[in-house]
Amino acid sequence: MKKRIAVLPGDGIGKEVAKGAVEILQAVGERYNHQFEFSYGMIGGHAIDEKGKPLPEETIQLCKESDAILLGAVGGPKWDQVNPDIRPERGLLQIRKELNLYANLRPTTYFESLAKSSPLKDEVIQGVDLLMVRELTGGLYFGQPSERMDANGESAVVDTLFYKKAEMKRVIEKAFILADKRRKKVTSIDKANVLESSRMWRETAEEVAKDYPHVYLEHMLVDNAAMQMVTNPKQFDVVVTENMFGDILSDEASVLTGSLGMLPSASLSENGPYLFEPIHGSAPDIAGKNVANPLAMILSAAMMLRESFGLETEANEVERAVKQVLDAGFRTSDIAEFGQQVTSTTEMIAEVKAMLLDNEAIM
Ligand code: NAD
Ligand code: IPM
Ligand code: MN
Repeated sequence: MKKRIAVLPGDGIGKEVAKGAVEILQAVGERYNHQFEFSYGMIGGHAIDEKGKPLPEETIQLCKESDAILLGAVGGPKWDQVNPDIRPERGLLQIRKELNLYANLRPTTYFESLAKSSPLKDEVIQGVDLLMVRELTGGLYFGQPSERMDANGESAVVDTLFYKKAEMKRVIEKAFILADKRRKKVTSIDKANVLESSRMWRETAEEVAKDYPHVYLEHMLVDNAAMQMVTNPKQFDVVVTENMFGDILSDEASVLTGSLGMLPSASLSENGPYLFEPIHGSAPDIAGKNVANPLAMILSAAMMLRESFGLETEANEVERAVKQVLDAGFRTSDIAEFGQQVTSTTEMIAEVKAMLLDNEAIM
């Protein structure tokens, strides 16, 4: 199989972890005889420095011409004071919008050997397997107006939460389709006791549910959901929610796996190309130190193999190698227990690669 992959490493640890995903994909390519061709593009802060904007046209073009996109992370304190219209994060929002990547899948799975890395009790997290489906191209992130204003002589501000019903419907449908192949339960999360947008969201979920009689639908208010996520996460199968709630709840859900550095994601559109990125950011506090956990990024590459290329076996092999490396006791500092020896980013990447190549290939 021949595939063109656009790689947008971005800023901070994005660069360190993206390198790992590429190495792992190269190893998969060699082993299973696929030709993966990698082309690099700029996004985020370093694109502002070099091109004056966080998403240069050539990057958009490169993504559109590719079969799939790998993205590291964007942002950092260096660009916190730039004009908000060209902040690094704008580049990320723009590429999501340009490619119509409306459904962001954020799976949270339990790794037995990381049970002690999570601050939560093992009996709470044991066996957790939830899939968050986050709406990614609407809501507060994209609403207009979004600006400072004068309200009768007082300084004020407005951010707009706008959704078309069709935008709600397509992502909720995606959640039902996915739940149908899993444990057949959708938890739709909203704030319908306060927000009109949430009341429309809830109605839409009810309408979609009629087409999926085998899937059980429940509604949960977002504040309760935040609490249930850490007290009884095993109740969740597929969770579907709007953009901002999904952003916040998925960072919370990552704690169930042990670390933010463990959670991958896939952003899907109707026809592709899809984009794959870890859910974490550029982690300025640890950037450049070779200590970041590359596994969220490597697991995102596994999602790429499965979702974009239909390479189920290869995806399973990458996930198996990650699990084996963890079982063997390798730990970056975010998942290390007290006193445990710590593995660097580059060592962790090398261990996953070695494990992948050592395992007998499943053809
Ligand atoms: P962050 O996700 O970068 O980091 C939060 C905390 O988690 C930090 O302590 C960090 O060291 C740790 N962490 C994150 N990823 C890790 C990994 N792989 N291994 C080990 N530890 C890890 O969030 P933040 O600090 O709030 O944001 C920093 C910058 O990243 C901001 O500019 C923000 O806008 C941006 N950001 C970008 C993305 C993205 O590109 N998708 C996502 C989130 C935040
Ligand atoms: C994420 C990030 C982004 C988001 C930011 C950087 C725009 O937090 O991918 O989760 O909020 O979507
Ligand atoms: Mn986030």
